[in-house]
Amino acid sequence: MVGRVHPFTFHNPTRLIFGRGQLSALEQEVPRGASVLLVYGGGSVKRPLAGGTSLYDGVLAHLSNVGATVTELSGVEPNPRLTTVRRGVDLCREHGVDLVLAVGGGSVIDCAKAVAVAAASDRDAWDLILDRSLVTGALPLGVVLTHAATGSEMNPISVITNWETSDKRGWSSPFAYPRFSILDPTFTLSVPRDQTAYGIVDMMSHVLEDYFDFTPNTPLQDRWSEGLLRTLVEVGPRLVADLSDLDLRETVMLCGTWAFNGVLSMGREGDWACHRIEHAISAVHDIPHGGGLSIIYPHWMEYVLEAHPARFAQLATNVFGVSALHRRDADVAREGVARLRAFWNSLGAPARLSHYGIGAEALPRIADLSTLRGETFGTVRPLGRDDALRVLERSL
Ligand code: NZQ
Ligand code: ZN
Repeated sequence: MVGRVHPFTFHNPTRLIFGRGQLSALEQEVPRGASVLLVYGGGSVKRPLAGGTSLYDGVLAHLSNVGATVTELSGVEPNPRLTTVRRGVDLCREHGVDLVLAVGGGSVIDCAKAVAVAAASDRDAWDLILDRSLVTGALPLGVVLTHAATGSEMNPISVITNWETSDKRGWSSPFAYPRFSILDPTFTLSVPRDQTAYGIVDMMSHVLEDYFDFTPNTPLQDRWSEGLLRTLVEVGPRLVADLSDLDLRETVMLCGTWAFNGVLSMGREGDWACHRIEHAISAVHDIPHGGGLSIIYPHWMEYVLEAHPARFAQLATNVFGVSALHRRDADVAREGVARLRAFWNSLGAPARLSHYGIGAEALPRIADLSTLRGETFGTVRPLGRDDALRVLERSL
């Protein structure tokens, strides 16, 4: 949209509790005697930490200190499923839960958000996800983050997959903000190299999604975005080379939260086409979100950059140091795309759909799912179904 910075109201109610040794804050945040639904994933929270006990043990100890009763929703899948959300809602009703506590990465938090809003409603969770105007409240939600990636710990967004209908839906509601989020980088030390790389790709993609639009007069937002990207370009390779570096884990953790907590989108609309296409891929192929973005994003950039070459050239120059001297914007932009792709690949993130065994025969269905609701999507260059197919074909 051309014009001016969009008027905006900024309000983020999540209390961010950041740094090492902060888990004990649970005892201030969880009301005495609360009935807590503890939500976690496939078991990473039960691995012993440096001191011998696990994060799971630590959380239970703090909850016990405040006399909380605990019901567990475990086994939340990466790309969390509606069936698991419904299981969580049933547990909330059965046990009179009054606080939902997510301990995990984006999938666990997103599942917990959907449980929290559906448990406060008479309607089925999927109805609320399809029509957020039906969301009228939520159980309070707390988070202990274990994976730096999505920013879900400080935003009102959740992404849930209805596996029966191959529909992976992002939804948001002001009721879905976590009330508090505890971010101790120590808990991310065990994230393996591939997931660490995917997390960096995802947070960089969030910055890029807001960066690519036509809103004029965003010099401050641009510098924030470029600064965040440059920070990740600097620390990302060092972190994947030494996953035990807590200082780097800490920096990346803060980047992930800041990339998608609403600050960078102030006054601008963003593009978000790549997220739409990636969600369509992982709705049927169940691949890691950051892995899908690492493949799609550079191909999308090459497909659309002629629509706004100056913007893509700005990224190339200000983030990757590409020289613009006596060169066309589009050429500078293309070199920037090559640098971004090479950077993500150097971290260990993939470049082609074949990495996940996805071939040409799968693409028409993914293109259909990208435009499930029939409309075009994206702002730099509005894409229809055939455009999505072209981007996917380039990504094979
Ligand atoms: O399930 P566990 O055992 O916990 O293992 C997880 C999972 O296998 C593992 N992991 C997490 N913390 C760990 C760890 N392994 C070792 N040590 C730790 N400390 O990592 C794997 C991936 O976890 P997941 O939560 O799925 O990753 P991520 O945080 O990237 O979340 C991805 C989901 O979030 C959605 C994605 O679409 C996807 O469904 N998104 C959510 C957004 C939001 N709410 O704002 C925005 C994003 O754009 C994204 O779409
Ligand atoms: Zn994302």
